[in-house]
Amino acid sequence: MASRTSPDFKDPGRWIEAFFASDHAEIVAIVDEASRRRGAAAAAVLDLFHRRLERHAAWEESVLFPAAARAAARRAQEPAESMRREHRELRELIAVVRAGLDAGDEGAFVRRLADLRERLVRHNAAEEAALYRLCDEAIPRGEIDAILRLLETSPKD
Ligand SMILES: [Fe+2]
Ligand SMILES: [Fe+2]
Repeated sequence: MASRTSPDFKDPGRWIEAFFASDHAEIVAIVDEASRRRGAAAAAVLDLFHRRLERHAAWEESVLFPAAARAAARRAQEPAESMRREHRELRELIAVVRAGLDAGDEGAFVRRLADLRERLVRHNAAEEAALYRLCDEAIPRGEIDAILRLLETSPKD
């Protein structure tokens, strides 16, 4: 993941967007890896995806969205609520994908995983287009630094 201080970080002023979009890309790559596997190997990658999605959603729901609500009040409220709702839908979809896999139904697994990927990509794009920009603009710089320091040092899995 690109750190704010790494040489490939070239967009000052969009720290939150860069950090979270980079994690989005890593998580989508894990879904793509799962789609190339079957059986127990697919289940292992799906479990990794589930853990990484939960970590990312927890960062947003416990740290980022509350900071956005403090800084931008009502402007952040509606998008944060709809992103929380989509997190719940994504969790439900993971359970559906897992059920197809556990039932040994390869066709269902492939179809459901493709659906999950599409929903995930749409969710990520919505956050990147609206919410992260608002966070970078509205949250005080010192608080952004503190948030990113906290998240950058959290364990990966
Ligand atoms: Fe999210
Ligand atoms: Fe996100």
